[in-house]
Amino acid sequence: MARPAVSVILPTYNEAENIPVLLERLGQVLKSIAHEIIVVDDNSPDHTWEIADAIAAENPRIRVVRRLTGRGLSSAVVAGMSVAAGRTFAVMDADLQHDEAILPELVAAVDSGDCDLAIGSRGSAGGSYGDFSRFRRFLSWGAASMARLLLPVRVKDPMSGYFVVSRRLFKSSADRINPVGFKILLEFIGRNPDIKIKEIGYTFRLRKHGETKLSGSVMRNYLLALYDMRFGRFVSARFAMYSAVGSTGVLVNLLGERLGSAAGLPEVYTGLTNVLDPLYLSVPFGIQLSIISNYFLNNYITFYEHRHRGWRALWGFTLFEAISSIGVLVQWGVFQLLHVNGFLTGVLEEDLRRTVNNMIGIVVALIGNYFLNVNFTWKRR
Ligand code: GDD
Ligand code: MN
Repeated sequence: MARPAVSVILPTYNEAENIPVLLERLGQVLKSIAHEIIVVDDNSPDHTWEIADAIAAENPRIRVVRRLTGRGLSSAVVAGMSVAAGRTFAVMDADLQHDEAILPELVAAVDSGDCDLAIGSRGSAGGSYGDFSRFRRFLSWGAASMARLLLPVRVKDPMSGYFVVSRRLFKSSADRINPVGFKILLEFIGRNPDIKIKEIGYTFRLRKHGETKLSGSVMRNYLLALYDMRFGRFVSARFAMYSAVGSTGVLVNLLGERLGSAAGLPEVYTGLTNVLDPLYLSVPFGIQLSIISNYFLNNYITFYEHRHRGWRALWGFTLFEAISSIGVLVQWGVFQLLHVNGFLTGVLEEDLRRTVNNMIGIVVALIGNYFLNVNFTWKRR
């Protein structure tokens, strides 16, 4: 049997009220085009899959994939494309926000060989954001601007969730796609700078039923993915986040020390060794504050996917505290080793030499602690 011209992939999560309407409308606009429709539902609590299945029972062109493991818009799209039979693959939101009227035009543009990718665009001629809220428009604008700044992106609406790709383009990109979050279109554009792209305008509609699944974690994943596409070859995104959190820790540390001494934390004499005396208690106070803030920031940003909740956070924090203490010793040890042995003497002026040796200690401790935290504190389960 010949391949259909298009496989329409519809990712759904709680779209029970929308999916019957959309399937009906798609049947209309695709009347004269050989097509199949693949609904990829992540086992929606509202039973979208069951409703779609009942419609598919009457229509051999419709298939339903009910995924029982895994969640996410992009990965659902990739799962749909992996089993699709068409010469082209269309991706469309199932919430009726994308205007199905331009779908035949998008398909024709790719199927005719005119381009490798056709985008339903809110930003180009004939397109608009409709009554999209100012806030969402701002988010979309910010995300698109960042993509344009970092990647070889020349399109008007790189955040569109409505597009058609050729089977060939999917095949050649499939194993490089990072299917996390919402930015599946960007994966195709960002990783294939030489493809031919066409944009076709349409007016974005408001949602009537159900609600958006765009969340803080989706936005975080978007930024991560951008970073990964641009700089991932050089430094892993996680280590970059860890280092960024570490830098905020330095600030907290310095501020904490000032706060502690302003609050009257005393200098104490241990009498143990004159290396330690007098001990300025404001210093360990600053260190402790920075360990606490580093823990929370790492838990919610760097290691979000493995974050500790409830009581587990207490155990996680204990480990983090222990590893941080090792880090302090490592930093100190490396500094002493280098500095006392005269590393960079004669190369750098004395004050600078001390700072540079201390910085080397900090970097060694940072890398060592990162390794320990990845493998122990936020170990994948
Ligand atoms: N299978 C599956 N799994 N589908 C999902 C999931 C999921 O975890 N999350 C969302 N979807 C489906 C929704 O059911 C809907 O059909 C479609 O993906 C889009 O989700 P929305 O939650 O409606 O996204 P949005 O409208 O806020 O975002 C749209 O606009 C963004 C740009 O402004 C999408 O088109 C995005 O791709 C786009 O970046
Ligand atoms: Mn939507």
